[in-house]
Amino acid sequence: MIGVHVTYVRCASVRDLHPGEIKPVRVRGGHELALAVIDGRVHAFEAYCPHQAWPLKWSEAENGADGTPNLICGLHGWRFCLDTGVTIDPPSMDDLAVYPTRVTDGVVYVGLPGNL
Ligand code: FES
Repeated sequence: MIGVHVTYVRCASVRDLHPGEIKPVRVRGGHELALAVIDGRVHAFEAYCPHQAWPLKWSEAENGADGTPNLICGLHGWRFCLDTGVTIDPPSMDDLAVYPTRVTDGVVYVGLPGNL
């Protein structure tokens, strides 16, 4: 989201996130997201797969072979990079929307485009 104005909105408490789990959240405005923690970093992404809208809370988040954080959809196994949203496998398919995060005083904030 380079060059896009974002507004950070509160979406979860850090203590509610656990490595290896994917937490669905609904933020201000009704936007549905999912959160995953990999190597201590919080990643935020769309709640549904861009392929056939599978709820990504039923997926796996892990480091890929190259060390980048990956999400593997639980239905057909598409693999996405959680840093960029790019579809790794199969390549050149619809990408996953990912969002910047920051943690302040134990609260996770997600940057969404525009003024909310
Ligand atoms: S619904 Fe996610 S890969 Fe098909």
